[in-house]
Amino acid sequence: MAHYQSMGSIPPKRHTQHRRPAGRGKLGELYYEELMGEEGFSSDSSLLYHRNIPSTIVDARVWEMGDLSTTPNHPLKPLHLQPHTLFDDAKTVKKTDVVTGRRLLLGNGDVRISYAVAGATSPWYRNGIGDECVYIERGAARVETVFGAFDVAQGDYIIIPRATTHRWIPRASRKEPLRAYAIEGNSHIAPPKRYLSKYGQLLEHSPYCERDLRMPQGPLLAEDVGDKADAETEVYIKHRGSGPASSGGIVGTVHTLPFHPLDVVGWDGCLYPYVFNVRDYEPITGRVHQPPPAHQVWEGWNFVVCNFVPRKVDYHPLSIPVPYYHSNVDSDEVMFYVEGDYEARKGSGIGQGSMSLHPGGHPHGPQPGASEASIGAEYFDELAVMVDTFRPLDLGEGGLACDDGKYHLSWSGNRGGSAGSGAVHSID
Ligand SMILES: [Fe+2]
Repeated sequence: MAHYQSMGSIPPKRHTQHRRPAGRGKLGELYYEELMGEEGFSSDSSLLYHRNIPSTIVDARVWEMGDLSTTPNHPLKPLHLQPHTLFDDAKTVKKTDVVTGRRLLLGNGDVRISYAVAGATSPWYRNGIGDECVYIERGAARVETVFGAFDVAQGDYIIIPRATTHRWIPRASRKEPLRAYAIEGNSHIAPPKRYLSKYGQLLEHSPYCERDLRMPQGPLLAEDVGDKADAETEVYIKHRGSGPASSGGIVGTVHTLPFHPLDVVGWDGCLYPYVFNVRDYEPITGRVHQPPPAHQVWEGWNFVVCNFVPRKVDYHPLSIPVPYYHSNVDSDEVMFYVEGDYEARKGSGIGQGSMSLHPGGHPHGPQPGASEASIGAEYFDELAVMVDTFRPLDLGEGGLACDDGKYHLSWSGNRGGSAGSGAVHSID
């Protein structure tokens, strides 16, 4: 993010001596300054002041990650995935964490989409490949990072910059386990450039602004979370490597630190994790149907994230609120239906918790009868998170395991399987 933040203890001048408190007449030990910066030293960065040398490790071993292999969507089909079914066993959920337990649904060389329902605290973790955008479908958690902590809940997007050490602690709830939808870029993830001034401020026509973003509550030290500062700690690192090509070459390593990773006494700069809740997104509406870019919230390299929020729909006297059929010739489109009334999509199989993949090369749009049925609607109470990718998406093991196998027939009447039945629905 472009706007500057400062937390905790930092010296008045960067790259100068910063010492811990000492007795009168004594010189305290130096803190260790770390610059965490993007694009070499040529983009946003922050300076963190550590109690310990941040490079220190006492051991390194392989992290055997889950199955990250992918399978092409061939023959080409629109798909309906049901990720909830991957985590329908409460005992398994209790032992699952957001980091090691996430299951890969879809992925390509630019982005991976995974899902986890978690009841366990994750190990300390950092993604050395790219930024993460984790959407909370349901439930609540505390996310502790070296920049500070967040309390997150339903509807929150947590943007976590590449290489940020953090961990996930689900808030126990019998009613709602933590349901996390993880969008991992191989790049940075940021607000769309067209919503930013040349110096990075969110502009007046942006659907959200800096006031809507939540900053980490920091600084955060080991003793603040009830841990010992000298506790030997493992940090799980996902990173670029020479893993199998079918897994994008991604590999994992576990580093052992001789101290607790929460040792940052202060930091400042423009690179840090932050949170945005989808309810704070102000929808852009029009007299006629607005195309999906009007709903964009984030962008990464070769992909965008949009959200369809509850909103007034098209108000031209002859408008058709549901979308026209469209062939996104340059992208695959993944919709995650998180809230709202999807009863109207009976027949397509889509409901809360569903995901659809509409691949490039195949036109898609409303189920039969939906356009006529939508006329006169004034408001759609729906919420969906969409990822559009410019390169085709392959199926991960989780995606293969929760594909309903028949969604591609939902436009064809009763022939061949489930049929559409007049959906009143505006989602593209
Ligand atoms: Fe679409």
